[in-house]
Amino acid sequence: MCGIIGYVGNKDAVQILLDGLTRLEYRGYDSAGIATVVDSEFNILRRVGRVANLIDAVDRVSIAGFVGIGHTRWATHGVVSEKNAHPHQSAHGLFSIAHNGVIENYESIREFLLGKGFTFESETDTEILVNLIEYHFNKEQDPENKFLKSVQKALFHVRGTYGIAVLCKDYANEIVVARKSSPLLIGIGSGEMFVASDASAIAQHTRDVVYLNDGEIARLTPSDFFITTLRNESVDVVKCELDWRVEDADRGGYEHYMLKEIFEQPKALENAMRGRFSDDLSTARFGGLRMSTRELRQVDRILFCACGTAWIACLVAEYLIEKYARIPVEVEYASEFRYQNSPLDKNTLIFVISQSGETLDTMAALQEAKRKGFRTLAITNVVGSAIARESDGGIYQHSGPEIGVASTKAFTAQICIAAMLALYLGRMRDMSFEDGALFVQALHDLPSVVEDVLAQGDVIEKIAEKYAHHDDMLFLGRQAMFPIALEGALKLKEISYMHSEGYPAAEMKHGPIALVSEKCPCFFLATQERILQKNVANIQEVRSRRAKVIAVATAGSELTEKFVDDLILVPNVHAALQPIVATIPVQLFAYYVAKFRGCDIDKPRNLAKSVTVE
Ligand code: F6R
Repeated sequence: MCGIIGYVGNKDAVQILLDGLTRLEYRGYDSAGIATVVDSEFNILRRVGRVANLIDAVDRVSIAGFVGIGHTRWATHGVVSEKNAHPHQSAHGLFSIAHNGVIENYESIREFLLGKGFTFESETDTEILVNLIEYHFNKEQDPENKFLKSVQKALFHVRGTYGIAVLCKDYANEIVVARKSSPLLIGIGSGEMFVASDASAIAQHTRDVVYLNDGEIARLTPSDFFITTLRNESVDVVKCELDWRVEDADRGGYEHYMLKEIFEQPKALENAMRGRFSDDLSTARFGGLRMSTRELRQVDRILFCACGTAWIACLVAEYLIEKYARIPVEVEYASEFRYQNSPLDKNTLIFVISQSGETLDTMAALQEAKRKGFRTLAITNVVGSAIARESDGGIYQHSGPEIGVASTKAFTAQICIAAMLALYLGRMRDMSFEDGALFVQALHDLPSVVEDVLAQGDVIEKIAEKYAHHDDMLFLGRQAMFPIALEGALKLKEISYMHSEGYPAAEMKHGPIALVSEKCPCFFLATQERILQKNVANIQEVRSRRAKVIAVATAGSELTEKFVDDLILVPNVHAALQPIVATIPVQLFAYYVAKFRGCDIDKPRNLAKSVTVE
């Protein structure tokens, strides 16, 4: 949420900032702005709305420079307006700042600064921070590192979260950056340095990066960078090489990132599985869990925590691990877990799932679990992300960058890893070699099965066209298809703004059936043969109330066209993998409904990728 980019070097900073902001736009698109320093003066340009508005304005106003910061905003404090857009300037014009996060004690700092004669133009918490920096700068006696020290001192008084990039017009060759709970990485160039909220903004310039840790602050100059902490402690700097190519973050000829990412799923699944099967092909293996077989066997309960779509992946993990490994699993919203003191057995293993690896609530749940002394593991997509680094061990998804705000390929990769975990833990317990081998074979075949489902895109597009005018829809499924019903409803509502609910199919009778009418179609996820008749009964119940029915069923199923209005057939696969196969139609359905409704699919209203506020 909110994207930050900064550049100091010998090239045109404006172009680098604008390119970076275009790539970061998925993190927030309420407003965008840049600031450069030229001849010891700030040039600041801000525009409401998309980065394109800013780019248009830059064509008319020259703000050249070799050092600068940029920001794309997802509004927290203050309405969406040019006045509230970043970068913000301090009252006496010494500093400019781009900030991602929330300053919780901004009211008391504001009162303090008002008493010292500071004035404010915006309604933002960020303007308070940049003025606090100026206040400390004016008080600082020691001329050495005065810029860095004043930022350190200001941050000492701040409660909340931040990723910041700060310019000082008296230090025209430097940027000071700092982070607490909002991601930031430094890109190391030759004679130039970059800072960004995520790698996509700078990957075209450098592959050498350093991820800042919480509590760290850094000074960047064209030739060097120096990292310390708010308390001036020394820091072990870990340089990493980015593991993905710039092209991975492009649209690649697709109309939307979301569609591209839906079609990337066979590859993402392959990547999630690569190198993760035992030599005898009867179980999975994971390099990063950092737990011995003995320790894993002692686990008698698993708690999964996450947010949004990743939370739904946790629900699928619950079904899979309980069924195949016979370990009791609980699932919590990360935002709930962090504030409730759930009684947990000492042999509980805590797993968090996060595509971005930076969702604030998920991070907080992880930290709470660690504070209580639990072993924590993370399934994340972004290598080197905060959650990946904070956990005791984990599993990378290797899905490649996910830019579409609605998560798609990351979700199915998370379920794939959950299925492999179920296999791995199951084989340590009661699952036989033969069952393990069948499971591995099914996983191996999965990418091509998903290809086959994707090939039905045109059919699903036509079905979506028929239903795109509705205002309400119910998604219904039983057992492991219930989370897929939730995911179908979430995808539809977030990108098409059609009201939709996901429910366990039978539970529908205990309330939601009151919504059912010819105006509220029902989308059934009915791929399980074992309980097919139960689903058919529920289909009859809604049809007799005149609801139109779309269903996903398996090829050869007894659920035929005569029971439903629209049928999408998917291949019959190993039961553990059916949730993945059934996800593809609901993703495509949501995508095409949103397209027919003329929605901005990659940038749905009010949303942004990576929620780094509470
Ligand atoms: C929905 C969606 C969100 C994310 C959620 C968690 O399509 O993308 O619900 O799943 O914000 O994000 P991560 O997985 O990055 O922690």
